[in-house]
Amino acid sequence: MNEIICRVNGRNTSFTVQGIKRLLDVLREDLGLTAAKEGCGEGECGACSVLMNGKLVNSCLVPAAAVHGADILTLEGLRETDRGRCIIEAFSDAGAVQCGFCTPGMVMAAEALLEENPEPSAEEIRLALSGNLCRCTGYDMLVKGVGLAAERGKGLW
Ligand code: FES
Ligand code: FES
Repeated sequence: MNEIICRVNGRNTSFTVQGIKRLLDVLREDLGLTAAKEGCGEGECGACSVLMNGKLVNSCLVPAAAVHGADILTLEGLRETDRGRCIIEAFSDAGAVQCGFCTPGMVMAAEALLEENPEPSAEEIRLALSGNLCRCTGYDMLVKGVGLAAERGKGLW
């Protein structure tokens, strides 16, 4: 049994891991943070996306033991910030949320993109979202939503 100490959404957090457990399981089952979803469980859909030390990761592929000392940000933390509120509002205004299953992962992917590139082109947005699958929106509205967030959120990133 290993004790893992890390920061989750800005709070010092510790949990124990026995055997092989994924970050996604710890977030959902141990910490009650259920925004990250399990879609494929194989790193293909991005529904489980979170930021780890500022980088977008698929939490279904991250062994929980590997987050010792790391800084994890999930949608629950991001949505409490001006950046998170800006992205979520822009998605909603652009019609980028339909069934909502992909939305937490898409919002995290948008945050990772805007942190790196606050004024992305439509092509750059498409590329940044390409690891996240959406079965409902056909992507145009998602691209519009991220563009809208970038436009409205000047100075936030
Ligand atoms: S559930 Fe993690 S990438 Fe699909
Ligand atoms: S809104 Fe339904 S999967 Fe994207």
